[in-house]
Amino acid sequence: MCIGCHGIQGYQASFPEVYKVPKIGGQGAAYIVSALQAYKKGERRHPTMRGIAESLSDQDMADVAAYYAGHGSGDAKPVKAGQAPVNANSSVAPLLQKGACFSCHGEGFAKPIDPSYPKVAGQYADYVYAALRSYKTQNNPLIGRSNGIMGGIAKQFSNDELRQLSRYIGSLDGDIQTVVQPHFKFGQK
Ligand code: HEC
Ligand code: HEC
Repeated sequence: MCIGCHGIQGYQASFPEVYKVPKIGGQGAAYIVSALQAYKKGERRHPTMRGIAESLSDQDMADVAAYYAGHGSGDAKPVKAGQAPVNANSSVAPLLQKGACFSCHGEGFAKPIDPSYPKVAGQYADYVYAALRSYKTQNNPLIGRSNGIMGGIAKQFSNDELRQLSRYIGSLDGDIQTVVQPHFKFGQK
């Protein structure tokens, strides 16, 4: 079920706008479960992923999370603490500081301080931009994410600033990738 979207390189979602389906290979297992639970509970309101998450038991979630977490690219090259990250152009650096992004996502966005926090280095920039804006959207039944942590952070930035942050995140080396495995089917034991 997952590979129809997450298993195709660069596959595009079309709701609520066109962006690439996120890379989940190499993502932390605890974060994958946490994201799936958020769709199931409606804290994340994307209709397709909600429908899918609602069909998954806790055990199913643990199984798919373990599968995807085990398929990283091994390309993460986190920069040293305190160093300006590679490619940080002058306009992004103050935004990173203002949002204290590295204090949770780790230097270079590749090593989160908590396993339930996402790796975002190397994620598709258009998805990152859609995700960041969704944390600002609260009162729409079909769009948006209610998250106490990222809600407060995303609201500090204009959409243009979020776009700059997204481009920067997309340009970083990270562990996450699209797992292309056309013959693998979940549910077959
Ligand atoms: C019809 C296409 C489609 C299918 C099928 C699908 N997904 Fe998704 N998935 C998406 C889209 C689009 C998003 C981004 C939604 C959003 O903006 O919140 C997403 C988001 C996610 C996220 C959150 C990623 C992140 O970085 O926060 C996880 C985890 C995930 N999907 C896992 C799965 C799993 C596991 C399956 C199979 C059980 C699955 N998906 C099936 C399209 C799909
Ligand atoms: C206090 C900790 C904290 C800080 C600071 C923080 N984040 Fe996050 N971030 C999180 C957590 C926790 C999540 C997962 C939220 C969820 O479950 O939806 C997250 C989610 C995200 C996502 C969505 C990832 C995905 O795959 O959908 C992006 C993008 C992101 N953060 C970028 C940033 C940026 C850019 C900054 C700085 C401007 C930042 N974060 C600062 C903790 C933090």
